[in-house]
Amino acid sequence: MSQYLEEESKGTAVGAGTKATENFQHDKAAYEAVKDVPKERVDKLASRIINEINNTVREEKVTYAEYNALKAWLIQVGADGEWPLFLDVWVEHAVEDVATEHREGNKGSIEGPYYVPNAPVCADGKIPMRDDEPGDRMTWTGKVTSTDGSPLTDAKVELWHADSLGFYSQFAPGQPEWNLRGTFPVKEDGSFEIHTIKPAPYMIPTDGACGKLIAAAGWHAWRPAHLHVKVSAPGHELLTAQLYFPGDEHNDDDIASAVKPELILDPQDQGNGQWTVEYGFVLDPEKKA
Ligand code: DHB
Ligand code: FE
Repeated sequence: MSQYLEEESKGTAVGAGTKATENFQHDKAAYEAVKDVPKERVDKLASRIINEINNTVREEKVTYAEYNALKAWLIQVGADGEWPLFLDVWVEHAVEDVATEHREGNKGSIEGPYYVPNAPVCADGKIPMRDDEPGDRMTWTGKVTSTDGSPLTDAKVELWHADSLGFYSQFAPGQPEWNLRGTFPVKEDGSFEIHTIKPAPYMIPTDGACGKLIAAAGWHAWRPAHLHVKVSAPGHELLTAQLYFPGDEHNDDDIASAVKPELILDPQDQGNGQWTVEYGFVLDPEKKA
């Protein structure tokens, strides 16, 4: 275990940030969706945000020293590749709330910067992990249904999460490419059984620009331990969510403000580092235009 910690903790904010930036730049759907934003909308949103900044400057009597600190910091966020991290920690939760407020089914949560599409399909329910993967084992059972209660027999659950040291494969060194990332098709009745481990709480990198802000403001850098999922089924809205563990000290003060009570699991301790948990998903049918 210490051998893994030594290797994985060699990761840097620039390493994780650069990868997250590149991954986003390769997300064709995200870029495609913005090309038709009307001029009026850009005018309104950009003007409001700039006005908010100007109001803060006037009300707080911001000095040139503070203005230059901001300029230097913004330049550093870009240099460290940390724009995805910054936005996903401090802005995405509000966007997610707005995007899903009409839903009757499952609550969602932020995607964060570390999703990678096309993780290996695990028909046997076992997420890829190292032979000696550290951490408690968890067997997770559940079912995917529509809001009317009918099982979604063509659903799939994409799962990705940190290891028991708090690091994500592909964004920190030392883990195999698809470690703790998998795609799980449901069975004929919409049910699934997934075998994975319990992740550790996650600390956003402290050695980059976001870490500097956190230290300068006297905040903490923690997210509670969490599992990331994307649950999809034909004719239904994609659900992006995170699941949390009861009793985590950061459930109430997540730096990314992404915890919702409906997303806290109820895992059962089976002894010897083995856990079971039951949690299913309810997807909203796509609204016909
Ligand atoms: C960040 C990391 C996460 O694992 C997450 O779920 C949300 C945000 C981040 O570092 O920005
Ligand atoms: Fe995460």
